[in-house]
Amino acid sequence: MLIGKHIVRKDEVASTNDLVKGRGKDGEPEGLVLVARSQTAGRGRMGKSWSSPEGGLYLSALVRPNFSTKELLRLTVFACVPVATALEEVSGVRVQVKWPNDLEVEGRKVGGILVEGVSKLNHLDFVVIGVGINVKGDPGVEGSVSLEEAAGKDLDLEVLLQAILHHLDSFYTKIIAGHFDEDDYVRRSSVLGHYVEAKIGNQILEGKALYINSDGALVVRSEGLLIRLGHVSETSLRVVEGSESGGT
Ligand code: BTN
Repeated sequence: MLIGKHIVRKDEVASTNDLVKGRGKDGEPEGLVLVARSQTAGRGRMGKSWSSPEGGLYLSALVRPNFSTKELLRLTVFACVPVATALEEVSGVRVQVKWPNDLEVEGRKVGGILVEGVSKLNHLDFVVIGVGINVKGDPGVEGSVSLEEAAGKDLDLEVLLQAILHHLDSFYTKIIAGHFDEDDYVRRSSVLGHYVEAKIGNQILEGKALYINSDGALVVRSEGLLIRLGHVSETSLRVVEGSESGGT
């Protein structure tokens, strides 16, 4: 096991991603996982904050893949699959992935992934894979749900952590060897085949989500054009079921 071979546990931290970044810069070998009971400055994608009270699972893993920065998109998007698999295995409820980095139960957000790369002298030095899951209590964020509420039963944070590390580790071993089953992604996606509205910076487009590229980009057909969505830091997406406009 690489991811999780060294686990550091903390009570309250600002952000596990920031702490692991600091360790990475200090030369910490890959495989470190830092888990916190709560965060005071948890971060999500697009500069959003990530509410992190006790009862959630907040972890960050340090890896040093021989990737270019372009491959970070792939890691962000496809890493949702092993995490969703772990949540489903432990909770018994169907967990889907919503491009680019959300984990959902019946359209409500149960968790998210924040992958951040740190470069040194023009090459990717290391990557932090941050995972945040709403496990217990009310996440207090519109459109979100806790895994316990969705499952209707109590869940053990440690069992969940071990399942996530297990699936993330075997996913990581495969993806660095260039093997990853994109069909797994397609089966778990809540977006593919649906009409979506994408906000890219100030621009809005609507169309049908057709497929996922092997680089992790989502391809949407809008007004007869194939549009590649690949800028995760500035794109937000929502499914607009029933809408036919912009698609076909
Ligand atoms: C998102 O949905 O935008 C991603 C949320 C990722 C949150 C996790 S919690 C552990 C790690 N530390 C952080 O500050 N963020 C990630």
